[in-house]
Amino acid sequence: MRIAVLKERAPGETRVAATPETVKKFVGLGASVAVEAGAGEAASIADADYAAAGASVAAGDAVKDADIVLAVQGPEPAVLAGAKPGAWIVAGLDPFGQRERVDAYASAGFEALAMEFMPRITRAQSMDILSSQSNLSGYKAVVDAAGTYGRAFPMMMTAAGTISAARCFVMGVGVAGLQAIATARRLGAQVSATDVRSATREQIQSLGAKPIFVESVAGIEGEGSGGYATEMSEEYQKAQAELVSSHIAKQDIVITTALIPGRAAPRLITDAQIATMKPGSVIFDLAVAQGGNVEGSKPDEIVVKHGVKIMGYSNTPAHLAADASALFSRNLFNFLSAFWDKEQGKPVLDEEIGDAIRLTQGGKVVNPRLLG
Ligand code: NAI
Repeated sequence: MRIAVLKERAPGETRVAATPETVKKFVGLGASVAVEAGAGEAASIADADYAAAGASVAAGDAVKDADIVLAVQGPEPAVLAGAKPGAWIVAGLDPFGQRERVDAYASAGFEALAMEFMPRITRAQSMDILSSQSNLSGYKAVVDAAGTYGRAFPMMMTAAGTISAARCFVMGVGVAGLQAIATARRLGAQVSATDVRSATREQIQSLGAKPIFVESVAGIEGEGSGGYATEMSEEYQKAQAELVSSHIAKQDIVITTALIPGRAAPRLITDAQIATMKPGSVIFDLAVAQGGNVEGSKPDEIVVKHGVKIMGYSNTPAHLAADASALFSRNLFNFLSAFWDKEQGKPVLDEEIGDAIRLTQGGKVVNPRLLG
């Protein structure tokens, strides 16, 4: 069983899909691990550390004869030349955004496993790359918004006078939003938050923040399958926009995190709403790479509109390369080791998880979410 760890090729990608810690554990399971030279460099991991953990570090041919290829983002098919027929490609494959590449994996005979399709069931929590990366993203959004904000977050009483606490509003309270609330609270902001899923109200309160919810539209339950949000009715969206408009005008920092799987991110903040905010306020759009929650946001730029700074990254976890890599790598190890068959010396997937994440097999695209 040969596992290859790729050096990421995508611009701005700093993460790596295995760390010396997980390499050592794979070796402990009986696998041999080949790491592409320089794979960990941007995450502050030296080739020598991989070698010390038991990997062979190869300049060009790490994928040669690989049974499993680990990567953060889906590699170009050409990068996989030399891997065994039927080899598993285990990564965040962006199946909806990179459909042509998925087709190419099928044609090349690979079995592509999309880690972002991991079902949201208790036993798969430790394998969930969306959670581990979103958690760090929620933290980073607040910290970098604080860095861009020209004022302090906490209330300070000084001899020269009092500085009032920043007001921070978090829109979308999934994994990233919860961490954003917790981080903003730790920095001393007055925090409020909203979501379409009413189950988040208690979670917001338990973190010491104020829930801001639409009360006037009957029968709201924005929760679809697997705990994800569904698209809301026009009536709800109108009520939400009104509520948000009045609230947002009083905010200093807004963090938006709203996503709906397989669709463009919902628009939560319009230019007219931005115009009501105080100059110097900061909006961090965590959904900017999926189309953006905020009108006018641009990936990796600070756009100034009506004196408000609007920011967001195309790849937020890549701004925390070392921790993001450590958690991503553990997700992959937890996944493969949970299915490791000692007698066969390789992982054997069960139906529940295998069928959910497998995109291609036997030369074809097989995942119902891509065929539907
Ligand atoms: P996500 O990244 O898909 O979306 C972020 C948040 O935006 C969600 O809370 C969603 O409800 C919200 N949202 C969508 N449209 C909105 C709108 N128009 N206005 C305001 N908010 C809007 O969500 P994420 O972080 O992936 O979490 C979704 C749920 O899955 C959570 O309940 C989480 O606790 C659960 N989960 C369960 C796991 C497990 O059991 N293995 C693992 C990870 C998350």
